[in-house]
Amino acid sequence: MDAPADSSAFSSHSLYLSGFGTCVPEKVVTNFDMEQLTNTNDEWIVTRTGIRNRHFLSGDEQPSDLAVKAAQQTLANTGVALERITHVVVATCTPEYLSPSTACVVAQKLGLRHCIAFDINAACTGFIYALNVCQGLLCADPQACILLVTAEGLSRRLNWQDRSTCVLFGDGAGASLATARPLDTPGHLSARLGSIRCSSDTDCWDLICVGGGTHDPYTLGEPVNEHFFVTMQGREVFKHAVRALVSISREVLEQEGLGIEDVDLFIPHQANLRIIEAVGSRLGLADDKVFANVGSYGNTSASSIPLAMAEAFSQGRIKPGMKVLVASFGSGFTWGAAVLQF
Ligand SMILES: CC(C)(COP(=O)(O)OP(=O)(O)OC[C@H]1O[C@@H](n2cnc3c(N)ncnc32)[C@H](O)[C@@H]1OP(=O)(O)O)[C@@H](O)C(=O)NCCC(=O)NCCS
Repeated sequence: MDAPADSSAFSSHSLYLSGFGTCVPEKVVTNFDMEQLTNTNDEWIVTRTGIRNRHFLSGDEQPSDLAVKAAQQTLANTGVALERITHVVVATCTPEYLSPSTACVVAQKLGLRHCIAFDINAACTGFIYALNVCQGLLCADPQACILLVTAEGLSRRLNWQDRSTCVLFGDGAGASLATARPLDTPGHLSARLGSIRCSSDTDCWDLICVGGGTHDPYTLGEPVNEHFFVTMQGREVFKHAVRALVSISREVLEQEGLGIEDVDLFIPHQANLRIIEAVGSRLGLADDKVFANVGSYGNTSASSIPLAMAEAFSQGRIKPGMKVLVASFGSGFTWGAAVLQF
C-alpha cells in the first residue's frame, strides 16, 4: 500500500476509504423476542420504525470483538498488512470504559503496538465526524494508514421499562482504511471522499443521552437510575432529524457542485424507516436510490452507515463510478453528510 496507484489522485485533503469490513453479533433479537422483554408488539414496532430484527451482544462479547473481526475483514479485503496501520480511530457512543478508549482496546486485541489510538463520540453521526477527523489527520501526515472503526453496543444501555426507546437499537461494528492516496493493492472497492460537512446544535443536547458518565455519580451496591440508560425524546428527535438530514444533504451536494439527480445512491443513518423515507422524498430521490436496511439491524448508531454500505455493495447497489451520498444525525445534537465517489 506504500506506493500510490495514481499520484495525480492526491491532493492536500484527499481521503480514500477501502476495505469495508463489518460484523454484527450472532444473536438475533426479533420483535417477537422484544415482546418478552418489554410491553410492545411486532405490529407497533414495524409500523412506527420499519425494524423487525436487531443483533445483540451476548455474554462477554464486546463491541471491540466485533470491531476486531470487521478490521480483520478489512485487512483481508485490501491485502494491507496489520503493521502498516498508524492510527486506530473508533467512533462510538458506547465505549467499553470511560478510559481507556475502545480504540486502545481494539488495537490491543488486534496485536497493534505503538499506533495512535483514540475514540470519537459524535453518537450516530460518528462515522461522518470520523471521516472529517481522518481527513485532517491525513493532511498532517499523508503517509498515515488509519483504521477507521465504528463499534457500538447499545444493547448494554437499554432500559426495558422505556418501551418507545428500547425497541429501536442494535449492536454492530464497521471498519475501513483511510489513506491519502488510493491503495496499490488491486481488486478491492474503494471510495474517494468528496465534500463533507458536519454540524451540531447543542441547544438540543438533551434530546438523546447515553448515561454512565460522571454526570450521575453511582454508589457501589446501589441500583442505577434511569439516566444510566439511553433516554430520548422521540418525537423531537424525529422532527430535528428530518430537517437536519435534508438541509445538510443539500449543502454538501451544492458544495460538491452536484444536483440531486447526480446521486446514484443515498445511504442515510438507519434509525427509522419513516425518517429515511421522509428525507428521501423531500430531497426528491426515487425510492430505488434510497438504501435502507434498518429492518434487519435496528439503529446501530455510528455503525449504521458502514453496515448499510457493506450491504449495498453485496447487493450490487454500489458499483465503481457511482456517487454515494451519506448523511447522519444523532445525540449532541449532531449531524453531517458527505459525498463518496466510488
Ligand atoms: C420513537 C418513535 C418510534 C415513537 O413513535 P411516536 O409516534 O412518536 O410514539 P409516541 O412515543 O408518541 O407513543 C405513541 C403511543 O405508542 C405507545 N408506545 C410507545 N412505544 C411503544 C412500543 N414499543 N410498543 C407499543 N406501544 C408503544 C406509547 O405509549 C403511546 O401510547 P399512548 O398514545 O396510549 O400514550 C418515534 O418518535 C421516532 O422514531 N423518533 C425518532 C427516534 C430516533 O430516530 N432516534 C434515533 C436517534 S439517532
